[in-house]
Amino acid sequence: MSTKSKTIRLLALATVLGFSTRLSVGQPSTGATLGIVPGTGTNGPAVRITDPGNYVWVLQRSSDLTNWTEIAPIKLHNGSYSFSVPSSSRSLFRAVFLPARQTITSQLTNALLLPSMPFNYSSPALPPSFSINPILAQDNMPATNVTSDTGAALGRVLFYDKRLSTNQTVSCSSCHLQANGFSDPRRFSVGFNGGLTGRNSMGLSNARWYQRVKFFWDERAATLEDQTLRPIQDSLEMGMTLTALTNRLAAEPFYTNLFAQTFGTPEVTSERISRALAQFVRSIVSVQSKYDVGVTMNFANFTAQENLGRQIFFGQGTFAHVTCVRCHGTDNFVPGGGIFNNGLENPYVDKGVGALTGQPQDEGLFKVPSLRNIELTAPYMHDGRFATLERVVEFYDSGVVTHPNLSGPLRVPPGNGPASGTPLRLNLTPQQQAALVAFMKTLTDTNLAADPKLSDPFNYGN
Ligand code: HEC
Ligand code: HEC
Repeated sequence: MSTKSKTIRLLALATVLGFSTRLSVGQPSTGATLGIVPGTGTNGPAVRITDPGNYVWVLQRSSDLTNWTEIAPIKLHNGSYSFSVPSSSRSLFRAVFLPARQTITSQLTNALLLPSMPFNYSSPALPPSFSINPILAQDNMPATNVTSDTGAALGRVLFYDKRLSTNQTVSCSSCHLQANGFSDPRRFSVGFNGGLTGRNSMGLSNARWYQRVKFFWDERAATLEDQTLRPIQDSLEMGMTLTALTNRLAAEPFYTNLFAQTFGTPEVTSERISRALAQFVRSIVSVQSKYDVGVTMNFANFTAQENLGRQIFFGQGTFAHVTCVRCHGTDNFVPGGGIFNNGLENPYVDKGVGALTGQPQDEGLFKVPSLRNIELTAPYMHDGRFATLERVVEFYDSGVVTHPNLSGPLRVPPGNGPASGTPLRLNLTPQQQAALVAFMKTLTDTNLAADPKLSDPFNYGN
């Protein structure tokens, strides 16, 4: 290829202490950059190369812009790599693309920071309530794709790999961030080409437990195995074809190794990709929140405010009219067999299930995702309309709108005269509303948000 016969230089004119950078960027990878990462207290400064093409760049140093000495060839594995440089000398750096130097490949040993023994994904420690009904029956793991340690480890690599998008700029994790309960803090997520998704990204905590099995806000994916291939092929999200993807992954030695470890042979197929990704998503198990501790000790660990919020949420005592638990039930805070309209608007701009079926009785029906880690997954609802949990509670307190499909639990029960069937008003005081929010925050699992076995496994240097 003619572009590759040219020598490409990325130049960062930077003194390590001064940090003025100038970049010149060229083919073969559009979007390649070279920059200086300032040192922190513990880490010295580093030269950082970004390149969605993951090429080998030869890093060179000069003190006079004339004589250049090679520091090291740098192979990128997933879009960026940082290389520590001494902070003592004032140096200029450049990175050069040389076709003849494209010999370093991404192997298990250099591309990934995986433990020698895979993490335990196959038998997570679960609270007692998970091994009995109703939760037991809500487990959507199929007998045909039981999670294995190697399978979920492969799924973890795929989940963080930008190779899954056509221009290698977006991974699943771009829109499902671990620190945000595997959701996206942006109201709408950004696809590979800069386009915005039509809905708010969904948190993935405990997605394994959902009685209706189906996935997406409108439940258009019948199973998780079906779901995982859709963002890859979505023209806005990742823009990839499955053929291009399997060819691209089969060219990476670390993948053929991981596929062989998981499936016995190195073949990369879309079915195997979908199965491994589903195993990883089912491994996003959140059972270490303050709420989980509370279950074991009659909530003695809760503050008075959190316990008040718990009574409200579960509709106990004087709060019997509050129905949250009817749609957000069990220790996973998911509905039983239902899909609901919670009266956000009338008519619905996004008709949810109704947009799929064209049926008026399906307008505004949306999947109720688990409330686990809800504090981390703002903004809320399918369109991310509420920025905070306070706004969500205010909505349920007094903002539910009338709609022909408004679900029963959010209507005034029959037998209340003319008010029967109208949108429920909770009439909670500001203190009670704050308590309800405080209760939902007990569902936060900080371990999950930082768990290494769910984190990005790629080697980005230092
Ligand atoms: C560009 C952003 C983006 C990317 C990339 C992306 N997602 Fe999503 N994801 C979303 C949005 C938005 C939704 C909700 C879409 C809807 O319901 O129409 C969603 C929904 C989901 C759901 C449904 C959860 C549930 O409870 O029903 C799963 C599972 C999921 N994504 C997994 C993945 C996986 C695996 C990948 C990578 C192969 C991925 N996502 C890539 C934005 C993204
Ligand atoms: C009739 C069933 C129903 C009841 C009762 C109900 N909800 Fe919901 N809830 C839903 C549905 C459906 C959604 C998703 C709606 C959408 O996005 O269009 C939802 C979404 C939410 C969300 C945002 C989830 C996310 O991931 O964005 C929160 C938080 C929430 N509900 C809290 C509550 C609280 C607190 C109560 C009690 C005051 C309550 N819900 C009562 C059905 C219900």
